[in-house]
Amino acid sequence: MELNILTICYLIGSITFILGLKMLSNPATARKGNLIAAAGMAIAIAGTIFLYKGSDGEGLHNYAWIFGGLAIGTLVGFIAAKKVKMTAMPEMVSLFNGMGGACAGLISIIEFSRASADFGSGATMHGKLITIFLGVIIGSVSFAGSMIAWGKLNGKVKDFSFPGQQILNTLMLFVMVCIAGYLVFNVTPANSFLFYVILSGALVYGILFVLPIGGADMPVVISLLNSFTGVAAACGGFLYSNKVMLTGGILVGAAGTLLTILMCKAMNRSLLNVLIGSFGGNKAGGAAAEGAGGGSYKEISLSDSAMVMSYANRVIIVPGYGLAVAQAQHVCHELEKLLDEKGVEVIYAIHPVAGRMPGHMNVLLAEADVSYDKLIEMEDANDLFKTTDVVLILGANDVVNPAAKNDPSSPIFGMPILEVELAKTVIVNKRSMKPGYAGIENALFFQPKTSMLFGDAKGVLQQLVSEIKSL
Ligand code: TAP
Repeated sequence: MELNILTICYLIGSITFILGLKMLSNPATARKGNLIAAAGMAIAIAGTIFLYKGSDGEGLHNYAWIFGGLAIGTLVGFIAAKKVKMTAMPEMVSLFNGMGGACAGLISIIEFSRASADFGSGATMHGKLITIFLGVIIGSVSFAGSMIAWGKLNGKVKDFSFPGQQILNTLMLFVMVCIAGYLVFNVTPANSFLFYVILSGALVYGILFVLPIGGADMPVVISLLNSFTGVAAACGGFLYSNKVMLTGGILVGAAGTLLTILMCKAMNRSLLNVLIGSFGGNKAGGAAAEGAGGGSYKEISLSDSAMVMSYANRVIIVPGYGLAVAQAQHVCHELEKLLDEKGVEVIYAIHPVAGRMPGHMNVLLAEADVSYDKLIEMEDANDLFKTTDVVLILGANDVVNPAAKNDPSSPIFGMPILEVELAKTVIVNKRSMKPGYAGIENALFFQPKTSMLFGDAKGVLQQLVSEIKSL
């Protein structure tokens, strides 16, 4: 009876994970989806704690440890999530993902030491050992890699590489897989120390794997490590024949893999290029310090910008990484409402990789209560630009760079972009002529239709709001 209720708890958990994931794909339902999946997880955890019975008919012990861990984890997670700044979100995701990898690795360590009491033989033991080794290798790589990614994003760890690093990495992986393969069929108490050699190797591999990758490429790497954590957790599900853990792990693994592929596609780069290429490398955080090459650009004053926008029929705002850095989302929403009151149609054009993490602009604008139906995707925006009077670009650069369409020699050639130059007037707000994440010049800034409105996005928007109010 109890087992049946537990199975139902796991079923509820699995269904809520799938529902939650589906709802996360739309900003309007994402918050609810997150809560539903969390509730399902809580049911699965509570079911395991109170209803689980082992093959010996015994339930769980060590309640003090279990509840102590739950209380500490809940408190730390709650405070961290409440305090985190939007721009530090990728850091937190990386840290939490690392914890998932560590858990999966720890499960393998515990299960290996339990198995070592009597290694036995036969297909079941071979299968168990394969799962244990997969869990320890993938989980440890994910843990160590995520910690390095976290350090890079908060600026504590610098990019580091040395000649032959890729060869060393490949060799290490090969040796670990060979030792694991050997142990699956020949493990004895005498050679079981090799398990810890694999564990240490996987931790070092995780560090070396992420160290050389440019700080600005971290979101892609974190998404990849996230999929590793999912696979490692699924290994735990196999070990314990725990269906909800298996479902959760597979969902995370699949979602992480798809997200990695989508991000690479939107940046028009292969995963291999992200992992071993130099684009975005050695310039943690993006924007390289390079002056403008040539060409002349014109500037526009605040009052002229206010005037042009106030008398437009439609203004499309293109938010980018700079808007997030300036934390200007609230004042941007204020500008939008003000123009709206004046009868100007205002919408936001969202590029899939604007900012530094998936959905960055959606989350940023949602934080300022911008209505979801004001956000339009790239394809739809590109249809609207030709009938738009003013495009206001706020801290975006690469996602509006026409070189992606016109210049086959450009590193971003082929990346889909927002075709803002189709609009009548383009106003670009940024602080200087410095390039964005890709480190390349943007010809848009030198086009006759384009005017530069220099300054920090927050300050500029505040002044624009007062200018428009005084019109
Ligand atoms: P970027 O091309 O990085 O340009 C951002 C611009 O914002 C910079 O040129 C910078 O110019 C300006 N800026 C910085 N701080 C500012 C401030 N306080 N006020 C006003 N402007 C400010 O950004 P984007 O157009 O959003 O493109 C995103 C890039 O990141 C793409 O290349 C994409 O491939 C890459 N990327 C995205 C992701 C995801 S998943 N979103 C992940 C990894 C990489 P100044 O310094 O002159 O102000």
